[in-house]
Amino acid sequence: MNAEITFLPSGRKAVVRAGTSVLDAARRAGVPIRTRCDGKAACLMCKVTTSGEGLSPPNENERRKLAGLDESGMRLACQTKVTGRAVVEIPEDPLRAAVRQQLMRQAEEDKLW
Ligand code: FES
Repeated sequence: MNAEITFLPSGRKAVVRAGTSVLDAARRAGVPIRTRCDGKAACLMCKVTTSGEGLSPPNENERRKLAGLDESGMRLACQTKVTGRAVVEIPEDPLRAAVRQQLMRQAEEDKLW
C-alpha cells in the first residue's frame, strides 16, 4: 500500500510505501532534514511539525525523547512512519534563520542612511 506525504514550505511530495519513515520519504523527495544520528532517535535534530493525520502514533522511544512536545504536533522524522496522506512542515535551518535575520537588520539600518 502506498502513502503520500507533502513537505512544507516547499510543497514537494513523495509517494512511498506505507511504513516508510518521514526522514526516508524526505530524502526521496529531495527535502533536507538535519540529522546527526542518522535515524537512531539520539540527536533530536529531525524535529518536524505535523497535524498527525496519515502518520503513525508516537512510539515509546519518541514519546520519551520529546517529553510532551508531541502533543503540540512536534515529531521526530526518523521515528514517524507515513501511513496515509500526510503533511509535515520542516522548520527553517537555525543557521539560515540567523543569517536571514541579520540580513534583514542590515537592510533596515541601510534605509536609515
Ligand atoms: S535523526 Fe537523530 S533523532 Fe531523528
